[in-house]
Amino acid sequence: MIDRATVLTVLDTIVDPRTGQGLNASGLVQGLVVGEDRAGFVIEVPSDQTALYAPVRDAAEAALAAMPGMARVSVVLTSQAVEARPRRTASLSPQAVDQGRPKAPVPTDRPAHVRRVLAVASGKGGVGKSTVSVNLACALAARGLSVGLLDADVHGPSLPTMLGISGKPDYVNGAMVPARAWGLAAMSVGLLTKAEDAMVWRGPMASQALTQMLTQTRWGTQEAPLDVLVVDLPPGTGDVHLSLIQKTPLDGVVIVSTPQEVALADARRARALFQKVGAPTLGLIENMTGEVFGRGGAEAEAGRLGVAYLGDLPLDASIREGGDAGRPVVVAHPDGEVAARFNAIAASLAAALVV
Ligand SMILES: Nc1ncnc2c1ncn2[C@@H]1O[C@H](COP(=O)(O)OP(=O)(O)OP(=O)(O)O)[C@@H](O)[C@H]1O
Ligand SMILES: [Mg+2]
Repeated sequence: MIDRATVLTVLDTIVDPRTGQGLNASGLVQGLVVGEDRAGFVIEVPSDQTALYAPVRDAAEAALAAMPGMARVSVVLTSQAVEARPRRTASLSPQAVDQGRPKAPVPTDRPAHVRRVLAVASGKGGVGKSTVSVNLACALAARGLSVGLLDADVHGPSLPTMLGISGKPDYVNGAMVPARAWGLAAMSVGLLTKAEDAMVWRGPMASQALTQMLTQTRWGTQEAPLDVLVVDLPPGTGDVHLSLIQKTPLDGVVIVSTPQEVALADARRARALFQKVGAPTLGLIENMTGEVFGRGGAEAEAGRLGVAYLGDLPLDASIREGGDAGRPVVVAHPDGEVAARFNAIAASLAAALVV
């Protein structure tokens, strides 16, 4: 039998790198759930510190898993949607840059030979946008669609790991040839430059990199257009979002949220941003449903926002393992319960996008 006090004591043996104190003493243990043979909680940190805390999350998970009688452990690392990512002063933000451009006609950088662009967004970091993007893309491809995946997280690209791809793209007639993995065409800053370099890019550079990947990648051809380009957005509502919104008509946005109330507030903000520019929110997906966060928060919120509720995805080790191993769970376990959920969501989205 696991008890709460012992769990907290164990968590205090893990040191918070910022304070030098134990995790509980540092106030990092949020939403702790302790069951008979299970425990889980959330560590929430500013978005520029997720790399620092990933080993802390792993250590906490290992320490809890080592407790006698512990059968299931989940420690989830999320980040607050603070604008902590590098950016220039306001006068050099992309909006300001845009103001200096000729007003009309406004060229839209809609990528050539791409029928639909679907963005996956959330206000908060670490809620599973990339995981959802990758698996939804695979599920859409399994429906016979030709699907591309663009990693718009210029500062923290995760698609190379999640898809198991590396190596610089080839160029054909000045356009980049996307990497291929699991039936998808994929492009990420992680393939173009070292992650450490991209991390310090300022707002305009990040936006420019995104535009280039969007419009100078050979996503499709006249004869074989891409049906859907799934865009995995970074967390929050920063420069990259603005530049994407300003340049590309989005055919649909999917918002990912955990069942937690805090995450929902962020989802609401993300939705408001897309609403302002007329990009239709096709629905809300609840991720990491289950023993840690509970369930149902996103469905109720979707009702309040008047957007479709697309379904929930369980907090499940196979989902994380798939991401870490570069073999998405939908591909690794195509007949499993998790794949069935992604397939159902993909079916709704394909219908909403008319592809
Ligand atoms: N349903 C799930 N069950 C278990 N683990 C999950 C689930 N969804 C996501 N994860 C794990 O949570 C972590 C964060 O997920 P992911 O990178 O997809 O989030 P994100 O929203 O894209 O993060 P960021 O804001 O940093 O881009 C990853 O380790 C991922 O494998
Ligand atoms: Mg991500």
